[in-house]
Amino acid sequence: MHRIPVGVLGASGYAGRELCTLIAGHPGLDLVFATANERRGERLALPTGSLTMVGTEDAPIGQATLVFSALPHGASAEWVARVRAAGPRVVDLSSDLRPGHTAQDVPYGLTELHRDRLRDAPLIANPGCYPTAILLALAPLVRQGLVEPGATVVADAASGVTGAGNSPRADMLFGEVTENFRAYAVGNEHRHLPEMRATIGELGGDLDLLFTPHLLPVARGILATLTVPVTSIPADLMAPWRLAYANEPFIELVTELPSIRDVARRNVVRIAVREARGLRQPTLLVFSAIDNLVKGAAGQAIQNANLSLGLPEALGLPA
Ligand SMILES: NC(=O)c1ccc[n+]([C@@H]2O[C@H](COP(=O)([O-])OP(=O)(O)OC[C@H]3O[C@@H](n4cnc5c(N)ncnc54)[C@H](OP(=O)(O)O)[C@@H]3O)[C@@H](O)[C@H]2O)c1
Repeated sequence: MHRIPVGVLGASGYAGRELCTLIAGHPGLDLVFATANERRGERLALPTGSLTMVGTEDAPIGQATLVFSALPHGASAEWVARVRAAGPRVVDLSSDLRPGHTAQDVPYGLTELHRDRLRDAPLIANPGCYPTAILLALAPLVRQGLVEPGATVVADAASGVTGAGNSPRADMLFGEVTENFRAYAVGNEHRHLPEMRATIGELGGDLDLLFTPHLLPVARGILATLTVPVTSIPADLMAPWRLAYANEPFIELVTELPSIRDVARRNVVRIAVREARGLRQPTLLVFSAIDNLVKGAAGQAIQNANLSLGLPEALGLPA
């Protein structure tokens, strides 16, 4: 198979490194450059060999057909514009170009909901990790008009520490994180809320989202628990998800409760549903698990790159 040349900006970070590993195992892609900032010049070990990371300004951008940007938000938008001006397609993993963060109308790569807009798209904004877990779990109820109008949907979610990136931070030291569990960004102000609100609005939702993230003392994985007031409890609890996600290779609807171990290093979201009993308002509990670095970042970015490049959507992805 002819391999399409691609590059990764931010390859020394957690998301960028995961991307490089997936590209190395992808039968249709060839990694032609990988960049780092402070770690420029270091070797990046990959299953297929190793490569030296170059500074972003030294990347041979014109050699790539598509560039992934795994740069921090704030730094990414400028590089995305530079790459686009030079010609290559871009999948941007940062929040800079996601809905609610920019006035530009950039296709939002929540693949299962938006794939018609992603085919052949020259620029795609890859979703955040929490929004991937939460929106894919909630969307069927919103789209099918089953959420109680005006309701508050509570999303409590916990992420492993790779969700915070690999820049040194005192609050991410092993001694602070291990054998510990805490909420952060409380008060419904997390930076993932704008893209979630925008997407829920676009799906026709009339609801408030109350999102509280937590820090889990593991390397990778997100588990989200959604409390959703509904108009009525479906006779078959999973029917709305089966209707929405028939034949989706990366969505697993399960009867047992999902856990992060079920989805580690896999490009899947695993969803289960229960009825909350003893409440006056009919309410569903929806559980969703992903690997934040795969379905929540690099894996979904490959799904989107495949669509942008006209390749089979699932090519090169661990199911
Ligand atoms: N981690 C996740 O679970 C996750 C999930 C979804 C989306 N994302 C998004 O993906 C992006 C990368 O996240 P991450 O967790 O991988 O972050 P990270 O571990 O902190 O990595 C950031 C990368 O960007 C480079 N970099 C930092 N500042 C730069 C600058 N000013 N110019 C050029 N390069 C610069 C770093 O290089 P050096 O280290 O060499 O300085 C590193 O390669 C972020 O926008 C994040 O929001 C992350």
